[in-house]
Amino acid sequence: MLDLRAEGALGAALLTDLPQLSEPLRTVAVHTWLGRMVNEHISAQVFGALLGQAMAAGLPAKRIADLAAFAGEELAHARQCAAAVAALGGQAQAPYPPLARVPDHLDAASPLEAVLRNIIAVCCLSETVAVALIRAETLEIGPATLKKLLDGILADEVGHARWGWTLLDELAPLDPALCRRLDAYLTVALVHLVEHELAFLPDHGGMGDQAAQLGVCSGQAARTLFLDTVETVIVPGLQRHGLQAQEAWQQAQARLRAKNHVCMSPLPLMAMLPRASMA
Ligand SMILES: [Fe+2]
Ligand SMILES: [Fe+2]
Repeated sequence: MLDLRAEGALGAALLTDLPQLSEPLRTVAVHTWLGRMVNEHISAQVFGALLGQAMAAGLPAKRIADLAAFAGEELAHARQCAAAVAALGGQAQAPYPPLARVPDHLDAASPLEAVLRNIIAVCCLSETVAVALIRAETLEIGPATLKKLLDGILADEVGHARWGWTLLDELAPLDPALCRRLDAYLTVALVHLVEHELAFLPDHGGMGDQAAQLGVCSGQAARTLFLDTVETVIVPGLQRHGLQAQEAWQQAQARLRAKNHVCMSPLPLMAMLPRASMA
């Protein structure tokens, strides 16, 4: 179990303007923030793993220190989500899933290629998606104290995404042979991104304005925003850095269709199954 009840109780004292809720709505809101709490805690482990890989690849000292700071920020996000749970009247403890190991990529041709695979997957994909989704949520959040909390998390996620994109800027131009090997991995990373992100989307089209004001958003709208972010931000961004991301995205979609993934069905997005992921 991940038990942040003590940390949550401390933070909840600052969230003084949350409204009285019906029991069903309160339950959904608690569940949403609990899910975020766990995801944020797991994100700290991801940056912790990147730290060692960045050292092995010889990234600059400032870059390595940034990764250590990011792990601390993710742990703080988990505590902040725990505060929201407690302020909503919930218990900030939840089952902790087995941690998936961050890949070492021992098949990579160099330590730089290995860490770049993970940096692209974490910063340029997951964190960039998180920025879009959380930004959308900040537009709907109601209570001023909760908005301040979410704005703070958003600012950190912007930093985590930007860190990856600016590293690609600094390393440009990447060696063409390295780019082609990264292209092959990108397809795998995009398939994982879709499967991971959509697994956290709630199966409802929103539960009304009061729910949205507490961070319980429409999963359908979030899925549309997610795919828009992949296609209009991530893919063009990676193309600009020398990767054949458009082709990788097409291959990823074909693999997802072969798995009968609902996201890649021919149905209009709004008709698909209906997020609560944070990075
Ligand atoms: Fe985070
Ligand atoms: Fe993050």
